[in-house]
Amino acid sequence: MASSLSLLVAIIFCFSSLRCSNAIGKGYRLISIEKSPDDDSFIGYLQVKQSNKIYGSDITILRLFIKHETDHRLRVHITDAKKQRWEVPYNLLRREQPLRVFGKSRKYPVTVQEISGPELILSFTTDPFSFAVRRRSNGETIFNTSSSGKDFGEMVFKDQYLEISTSLPKDASLYGFGENSQANGIKLVPNEPYTLFTEDVSAFKLNTDLYGSHPVYMDLRNVRGKAYAHSVLLLNSNGMDVFYRGDSLTYKVIGGVFDFYFFAGPSPLNVVDQYTSLIGRPAPMPYWSLGFHQCRWGYRNVSVVEDVVDNYQKAKIPLDVIWNDADYMDGYKDFTLDIVNFPHAKLLAFLDRIHKMGMKYVVINDPGIGVNASYGVYQRGMANDVFIKYEGKPFLAQVWPGPVYFPDFLNPKTVSWWGDEIRRFHELVPIDGLWIDMNEVSNFCSGLCKIPEGKQCPSGGEPGVTCCLECKNITNTRWDDPPYKINATGNKAPLGFKTIPTSAYHYNGVREYDAHSIYGFSEAIATHEALLDVQGKRPFILSRSTFVGSGQYAAHWTGDNQGTWQSLQVSISTMLNFGIFGVPMVGSDICGFFPPTPEELCNRWIEVGAFFYPFSRDHADYYAPRKELYQWGTVAESARNALGMRYKLLPFLYTLNYEAHMTGAPIARPLFFSFPDYTECYGLSKQFLLGSSFMISPVLEQGKTQLEALFPPGSWYHMFDMTQVVFSKNGKLVTLPAPLNAVNVHIYQNIKLPMQQGGLNSKEARTTPFRLVVAFPAGASEGYATGKLFLDDDELPEMKLGNGQSTYVDFYASIGNESVKIWSQVKEGKFALRQGLVIEKVIVLGLKGTGQVSEIHLNGSPISNETKRIEVSSKEQKYVVGSEDKGESKSF
Ligand code: GLC
Repeated sequence: MASSLSLLVAIIFCFSSLRCSNAIGKGYRLISIEKSPDDDSFIGYLQVKQSNKIYGSDITILRLFIKHETDHRLRVHITDAKKQRWEVPYNLLRREQPLRVFGKSRKYPVTVQEISGPELILSFTTDPFSFAVRRRSNGETIFNTSSSGKDFGEMVFKDQYLEISTSLPKDASLYGFGENSQANGIKLVPNEPYTLFTEDVSAFKLNTDLYGSHPVYMDLRNVRGKAYAHSVLLLNSNGMDVFYRGDSLTYKVIGGVFDFYFFAGPSPLNVVDQYTSLIGRPAPMPYWSLGFHQCRWGYRNVSVVEDVVDNYQKAKIPLDVIWNDADYMDGYKDFTLDIVNFPHAKLLAFLDRIHKMGMKYVVINDPGIGVNASYGVYQRGMANDVFIKYEGKPFLAQVWPGPVYFPDFLNPKTVSWWGDEIRRFHELVPIDGLWIDMNEVSNFCSGLCKIPEGKQCPSGGEPGVTCCLECKNITNTRWDDPPYKINATGNKAPLGFKTIPTSAYHYNGVREYDAHSIYGFSEAIATHEALLDVQGKRPFILSRSTFVGSGQYAAHWTGDNQGTWQSLQVSISTMLNFGIFGVPMVGSDICGFFPPTPEELCNRWIEVGAFFYPFSRDHADYYAPRKELYQWGTVAESARNALGMRYKLLPFLYTLNYEAHMTGAPIARPLFFSFPDYTECYGLSKQFLLGSSFMISPVLEQGKTQLEALFPPGSWYHMFDMTQVVFSKNGKLVTLPAPLNAVNVHIYQNIKLPMQQGGLNSKEARTTPFRLVVAFPAGASEGYATGKLFLDDDELPEMKLGNGQSTYVDFYASIGNESVKIWSQVKEGKFALRQGLVIEKVIVLGLKGTGQVSEIHLNGSPISNETKRIEVSSKEQKYVVGSEDKGESKSF
């Protein structure tokens, strides 16, 4: 009685305020800690101070594990000392050694107070137990769970409720915790909810849990004029609410363990490097995937898609990839063809034609497998016992094909069966990539479902078929109705809402309750393995649902948005967040998924998306009007401008893709990545960078023909009209003209940008001559610029140097003593050499006038330059891009 009363008091308190002060318990006492005899880790034990029954019984003894895993990464892991609990099964998913560490439960007196790493130092208090992490370099505490003098409670650890808090300085800027459409931009806003549980909720729904789960945040602080960034990952796949109050952060998690990783930075780029070195580097993307993609739901037969491709050609708008949504399937069944509307021979002839042109074809695939006794995929799935179970039988759900079962990708047998189905389909239709959708996993029928007696479920047909099943909410288990309700879908929806009941189970008895948010991740891994095996090429996969590590296998798009200005704005924050999550290949449905989009908005969207989303795809709903870029005159004009420039910049984008794969560096980044000391840009969500020095300042509001843009200190050159320069010593706000069809893009001083001439697809564009844009600080008598270029054959599964099949060049330029020197260092040259790539023009920006420079040297030799101003044509000399030589500053 007393305990239920205290629960009630706690709940009332927590509902009426975000400040759930000390509501749950008295925390734990550290009873022992000792250095492990095996390595540099420390193992300790914690004992609950006073048990209560709020949200269930406390786990009495916890095991604490602390290790400085690298110079920049600290791990703090807390779990039940006596019983194995659910942890993200990276070992199973990646077929790798487990990250988990379990030791012996010996007890030692507490003799240490601090555990030091090179940069991060962990200290703790024993009674009640709390821990803090501080930096050695500036003394700043970055995480501190001590509740003393704070308005949050002690650590709680129960079977279905874990709570821990940290205090934060008020001026810390936090980014992350997604997937969530953040109306307020990239910087976390105090007292906004951040709930993590994968849901099929449309992307236009603001501030709620969406398709992916990424329990990680980056914290950027300016300490005595210098920026320091770090990030914190809680590697946990259970549903959780994160409450950010400005001066503290509280995690309320409904299962699993505390598995914290602290990444020391100190720069934002260091942080993503350290983060992706743990969770997996972003997948290398094929060259063509950086081109433009056209999709829609409702391309109902081969002739329609043929027509779309032809119209792009006629309108002279670049296009690399044509997509089919579920229309190509027979009754929405995976791995089948609608042979009436997509006759096999006609489809193959079409694919042969576009493949010859250098274009690619990607199709959708949903996880729900139609329950249909005459359907081979289903039969083989049943024979191999690959589906998620409920009460001993495959769990019955409903998606587009009608009744479906969901494959359990945690089961190795499922992975083999899935691979085999992909192989069979690929033999039928030579697709170039797969789009895995609805994998949160989405179910139209919440709860326990059955086909009503005497009723036939429609298979396929119109989208949005009403539920053919009888669905009954399940609330009778503690998995379906846990004691603490996360704020699922923004209204404390039951966990099983529009998905699998959380009491269903996977391979080895794993509960859906625990594994729910890794469904899309596990599907992406299985799909990646299959495509790699079948094609022997670098796979291209687009996944709607993502988890920590998904970037290693898939690109992501931000789901079902709307043709509204708000969706356009939000797309930028979500894209930037995914860069921080280690999923840099990201974009949104250009011009909005539904409903109709005003022409002006579509113009502006193209300027942002066609041009700058790393993954650039126009997609629309079945009922939306046609939105291909050639449909409206002014939009076609914008598209030619924007995509014309994007296709010239493909070598730059591809090099960013390489950097992302090597170091996790996001392709699209917030400005603070390059200007971390410039605090004015910490909350900036309406402008962003591609790479380090290429800034986009788009129009995101209706009727605007000018905009205010923030320019960090230094010289910025307008990318289209290179004579315009914005210079400021301390950074400034500038009003820029922004007529329709024009986009403000500026490149920063000290960059050398490799470009080509463009083309109607990437295959064509990548054979054209190069030009280099060299930007010096405006009018400076001394300065430098650097750039880089990576090229390889995008059919290669791996993207790396040293295989004799790629080219990597570091470009340098300097200005001083009245001369400009331009040179390069070729680390590997074979690919570009084989392709016969040449540099025919160098454009030098930032020179004061004709008198400033008397000589221009290219790799040590003076080159002819009559005007001595900004354009240096080297066409006659045809400098090759690659070289056989390694490590020499010789030729381009
Ligand atoms: C989902 C996807 C959308 C797709 C539709 C039909 O809503 O998010 O992109 O067009 O399903 O397959």
